[in-house]
Amino acid sequence: MAASAPADLLSQIRVNGAVPRHVAIIMDGNGRWARDRMLPRPLGHRSGMKSVREVVEGAIEVGLEVLSLFAFSQENWQRPAGEVSALMSLLEEYIQREADELDAQGVQVRMLGELERLTPAAAAAVDRVMKQTAHNTKLRLNLFISYGARAEIVRAARLLAAEVAAGSRKPEEIDEVAISQKMFTADCPDPDLLIRTSGEQRISNFLLWQVAYTELYISSVLWPDFRRRELYGAILDYQNRDRRFGRVSA
Ligand code: IPE
Ligand code: IPE
Ligand code: MG
Repeated sequence: MAASAPADLLSQIRVNGAVPRHVAIIMDGNGRWARDRMLPRPLGHRSGMKSVREVVEGAIEVGLEVLSLFAFSQENWQRPAGEVSALMSLLEEYIQREADELDAQGVQVRMLGELERLTPAAAAAVDRVMKQTAHNTKLRLNLFISYGARAEIVRAARLLAAEVAAGSRKPEEIDEVAISQKMFTADCPDPDLLIRTSGEQRISNFLLWQVAYTELYISSVLWPDFRRRELYGAILDYQNRDRRFGRVSA
């Protein structure tokens, strides 16, 4: 399959039929990509921007409804200050460079996470691109920045507890739907497919609530080398899965 051209893979996806509604990606391996080339780690992150562009275009071609990208975790704040500030500058640069193109492509950009921790300049850029693209409907692009899944669940619990304390909700009205509605992803279907690049076989605190029945796909490719071909390969693999949701096969 690796030798097939992306256009052939896309045709095969269409022949197969049903495509995932929501694909999530843990974009990992930028540091190793840079190290392999004796480059500083931030150059690996910079190189990964091209991959983001590719998967957004690929997602539109396939017809996904939602693409979720894990760009920066809460735990990533503990990296060396120089790397953190390089990542924040790259976020601003990405928005600066891509906002008009994303808007023209019909992409609705949403940044999800504890955005209060961003630098004022990065926060302003985030705000700008979300407003600029809010009306778009072709693809929803969720960029997870300063995000941790456990913190998201804690936040949901607090919001629900506050409603109970205020008398606007009864404890017995807290169910799975109520919790889902307090997540950052409230208006999205759960991911059908979660891809992690660079071969790591862990979730690293991403979307813990939402991935209950998500299909997992580990790619050994480092994120800066991830292209349409790899995205399409993952979707083709997904199309051959038997999703049973605890039941028996049809
Ligand atoms: C992913 O690449 C980007 C972020 C987590 C911000 P890494 O920086 O984790 O790259 P590796 O895992 O060290 O190769
Ligand atoms: C997960 O990658 C976070 C992002 C891709 C943004 P990490 O590189 O931070 O995860 P670990 O430390 O290998 O689990
Ligand atoms: Mg990593």
